[in-house]
Amino acid sequence: MKRILTGLQPSGELTIGNLIGGIKQMVNYQEEYESFMFVPDLHTITVPQDPTLLKKRIKSIVALYLACGIDPKKNTIYIQSENLYHANLSWILECHTYMGEANRMTQYKDKSKKVQNVSVGLLTYPILMAADILMYDADYVPVGIDQKQHVELARDIALRFNKKYGDTFTIPEPLIPKIGAKIMKLQDPTKKMSKSDENVKNSIFLLDTEEDIRKKIMSAVTDSENKVYYDVENKPGIANLLTIYSALANISIKEVEEKFKEANYQTLKKEVADLVVSTLLGIQKKYHTYMESTLIDEILDEGKRKTNKIAKEKYEDVLKKVGLGRI
Ligand code: AMP
Ligand code: TRP
Repeated sequence: MKRILTGLQPSGELTIGNLIGGIKQMVNYQEEYESFMFVPDLHTITVPQDPTLLKKRIKSIVALYLACGIDPKKNTIYIQSENLYHANLSWILECHTYMGEANRMTQYKDKSKKVQNVSVGLLTYPILMAADILMYDADYVPVGIDQKQHVELARDIALRFNKKYGDTFTIPEPLIPKIGAKIMKLQDPTKKMSKSDENVKNSIFLLDTEEDIRKKIMSAVTDSENKVYYDVENKPGIANLLTIYSALANISIKEVEEKFKEANYQTLKKEVADLVVSTLLGIQKKYHTYMESTLIDEILDEGKRKTNKIAKEKYEDVLKKVGLGRI
């Protein structure tokens, strides 16, 4: 069975962008593949974090995975920092990555402009991500479009390593969703919706109240034409709302366009809000049940045990091939 692996950083409250671009895909793929779904908490500290908040978010994100339909029977669910092999493998991979490769990562270039004291971790972040992926011989890595370049770097590193030391890592492939690869900010639909946005009106968070969801969608920026059709270039706000509807209703953009072709923007927004509300209220109900149960700790303990065993084997194989230690 092919393996699939992904993780979402606990760096803020998850948005519908994360749900559509990340979690939903995993829910579909878990039927078909052996699935690994983890919490990349080490990645989160590449920029400053509040320790108390970070700890809370780690548990919360696991509860959200479960509430959004990630089935613990079909997935191995674990926390990155509970497996020491990730950072160790990352070091070895760093020594097989060129400065030029790390330097040209778009996310690094963008983020390093925004942060005041840029950490070295921000530069090496994609290599830790490569370690996360290559450790488990993942065949497929479902991610939003912004992470595609990082998965491609993981491929390049794996190919280089295999060439030098013999077959060691499976070459991973990014899986980008057809619909909703990039959900946009509600107030600026030319930019990606992000969980770390300063303006909360830009994002719908999975744990938002019904009132907030409705307010945010009703005040989403559109255009003055008042005709509903899909045109990303000229009508990015409407295109974004149609994309959200299409992804959550599991129907094509064409079908959504057809459904709303007579509607004005007010009606479209109301229908989008209804769908987002019903989807999120369902998720929130389950979320609270998981947060109050001991199930999360049991799942994470099992994930830790299982992934440490797999990672140990892979890491020792790498040590042997590179000529490190005494194995
Ligand atoms: P991040 O929030 O950047 O840690 O991303 C976690 C996952 O969700 C990655 O696979 C992202 O590509 C995906 N993702 C994040 N924001 C969006 C968005 N606005 N639209 C679609 N996918 C997203
Ligand atoms: N960098 C990813 C993000 O911000 C999170 C991540 C870390 C990841 N390691 C990974 C995703 C391995 C997929 C596979 O979205």
